Amino acid sequence: MRAMKRIVILISGRGSNMEAILRAASAEHWPAQIVAVISNKAQAAGLATASAAGIAARVVEHVAFPDRAQFDRALSAVIDEYSPDLVVLAGFLRILTPEFVVHYHGRLLNIHPSLLPSFPGLDTHHRAIEAGVKFHGATVHFVTPELDHGPIIEQAVVPVLDTDTEDTLAARVLEQEHVIYPRAVRDFIEGRYVLIGGRVARHSA
Ligand code: GRF
Repeated sequence: MRAMKRIVILISGRGSNMEAILRAASAEHWPAQIVAVISNKAQAAGLATASAAGIAARVVEHVAFPDRAQFDRALSAVIDEYSPDLVVLAGFLRILTPEFVVHYHGRLLNIHPSLLPSFPGLDTHHRAIEAGVKFHGATVHFVTPELDHGPIIEQAVVPVLDTDTEDTLAARVLEQEHVIYPRAVRDFIEGRYVLIGGRVARHSA
């Protein structure tokens, strides 16, 4: 029996992606366990979800630190209490320092609500509608020091309808996030991804 892989999930708010991952991990009996959910916001609704599931729910408030580097070091210290094989950013609305990203190199994932490299940064749904794109979506990627730029692991595509508002488009994208993020985390845990020339290849063996 392979040792259970240890996953830590970072959130800032509702935590719907975290919840989708929790559900898939238990329904699909992953050889992994979510050992902690950590938020930079004490009010993050996802913390209650984690606690209710019997998972350690921790808070490291960025407002308590004088600068980004000291916050990241404090956050990293809490994360490392759980010796994670994988750190999952799920609606974690902080830009991380290169020091932090390097420390978790190769085991730090993020989901971004656009088809990267299109629309890095914030307000992606509004920008997609304004740009008149006919397709939009979400991207799971390895995190590198450059924001929203790391090797792409999974993507999902949704149509943009003429009648779409930011909210209707966001809802359509979020539904797909809840499909591709659990799949990407499971495949990472099962060692199915390999980086070749900065691009991610998935092997089914
Ligand atoms: C989602 O749009 C996700 O793409 C982005 O944060 C938003 C909130 O996600 N990373 P969640 O419901 O907190 O998982």
